[in-house]
Amino acid sequence: MDVIEAVKKRKSIRGYKPDPVAKEVLEEILELAKWAPSAMNTQPWEFTVLAGYVLENIKRSNIELLKSGVSPNPEHMVVGWPMESIYRQRQVNLAKQLFQLMDIPREDKEKRAKWQEQGFRYFDAPAAIIVSVDRCLSETGPLIDIGAVIQTICLTALHFGLGTCIEDQGAMYPDVLRKYAHIAESKRIVMAIAIGYPDWDFPANKLESEREPIKDMATWLGFD
Ligand SMILES: Cc1cc2nc3c(=O)[nH]c(=O)nc-3n(C[C@H](O)[C@H](O)[C@H](O)COP(=O)(O)O)c2cc1C
Repeated sequence: MDVIEAVKKRKSIRGYKPDPVAKEVLEEILELAKWAPSAMNTQPWEFTVLAGYVLENIKRSNIELLKSGVSPNPEHMVVGWPMESIYRQRQVNLAKQLFQLMDIPREDKEKRAKWQEQGFRYFDAPAAIIVSVDRCLSETGPLIDIGAVIQTICLTALHFGLGTCIEDQGAMYPDVLRKYAHIAESKRIVMAIAIGYPDWDFPANKLESEREPIKDMATWLGFD
């Protein structure tokens, strides 16, 4: 798969086949993704790769906390979207599209809660990668490096027929991850990536997310 095809094909996968992903495949993905750039080649990323009973324990505990109303306490900066902004509007549009595909009426609180749980269950992916950084680094400094390596993981995964979903939700209860995945207190848990073989019949996977035209995003100078 060439780069352009991979960039176009990558999309967030929110429904997976139960088939496990071989450790060797996940290792190869990380071996490739480590070639992502980082500021001054600092390579601040650390990966905790989860599957099997460890991931099951984490899924179960996340859901227990969510259902008992325990507020998520992520360790990374969660972006806030001002209510009247275009960013909030795009977020609402995404939610509307997903709810439509998943047949979740706006007023159906039970179905909405069930859908939210899916994110905390890594969308039932058979594996997940937790990305963390050492706390000696600033909270925001390594985030560009982390973004680069995460996108590289998601693109590389396509080569192996795998789908991914980068997800805040999977890192919202860091204490659960610390308990079952033994992530040290000295590490800041930044993000989760669900990974597995896509279930293409799963309705949410049919989502074609939108992008603004580049003419509205880019300023061009010195070309004429
Ligand atoms: C930093 C970050 C956090 C995200 N967190 C979630 C999440 O918690 N749950 C989810 O379903 N998708 C999550 N996503 C996926 C985005 O919703 C998705 O990338 C966006 O809607 C564009 O769709 P696409 O990935 O299919 O192109 C996240 C993506 C990023 C980059």
